[in-house]
Amino acid sequence: MDIFKLDRDAKNMLKEAGNRIRTSFSSELSIESKADANDLVTNIDKEIEQFFIRQINAAYPSHLILGEEGFGNQLEHLEGIVWMLDPIDGTMNFIHQKRNFAISLGIYKDGEGILGYIYDVVLDELYSAHKGHGAFLNDERIPFLEETSIQEAIIGMNASWVVPNDHIENDGLIQLVRDVRGIRSYGSAALELAYVATGRIDAYMSMRLSPWDVAGGMVIASEVGAVATNLRGESLKMLGTDTFFVARGGLHQQILTNYIKLK
Ligand code: IPD
Ligand code: CA
Ligand code: CA
Repeated sequence: MDIFKLDRDAKNMLKEAGNRIRTSFSSELSIESKADANDLVTNIDKEIEQFFIRQINAAYPSHLILGEEGFGNQLEHLEGIVWMLDPIDGTMNFIHQKRNFAISLGIYKDGEGILGYIYDVVLDELYSAHKGHGAFLNDERIPFLEETSIQEAIIGMNASWVVPNDHIENDGLIQLVRDVRGIRSYGSAALELAYVATGRIDAYMSMRLSPWDVAGGMVIASEVGAVATNLRGESLKMLGTDTFFVARGGLHQQILTNYIKLK
């Protein structure tokens, strides 16, 4: 397999999908809810996933596709080449703001990430990585992350975990909020991973993410030395949902040890 060609093909698909999403801004969206009233999907999420599936099937018929909207394959294992796609990560932002969302794509071989992409289509910023060859923001190499202290760190986190909840002891998170420099919440796991990789924030955590939310970002983050696990510090399940935690080296272990206690 020519991985450089695969990389070029994936980037071309992302750029074309980005054009389609930008064009959609001038037409009316059809919006539906999925698991609950705030879990939204639009006709564009579905159309973009179907666009990728047509392109991938035509160019790489033996590859499998795990897509959020369910038009791809139903996977029971990760053998072979699997494209993990979230056509729009941050759908609520897409609907309400027309910004702060991204296409998230990871290409995995036998369960290991080999190519990763996060495309902020509004800013035309493509974050990408080829395992072992570094990470890029458009054509600029993203520098390796230096260590930082808790006191100087900005953490990506949803405010709902700081109030009492069923997933995590909130006392630890209250202390974390007190100890760090700042807290941010952008509403797109993929973009938050891209922001960790580029040093705009220093860590990001979530109580429940799916493989397509993080598959691309994990390849990018790992190329610049960030560490990604679940909130128990274990490697992530790439089939099914899991908690998620990514941070600069050093900070990752410190936060897990001193502030995180899952219920
Ligand atoms: C969601 C976003 C959000 C995260 C949710 C995800 P979607 O993805 O990444 O930031 O908190 O858990 O499901 O539904 O917009 O693709
Ligand atoms: Ca998502
Ligand atoms: Ca989505």
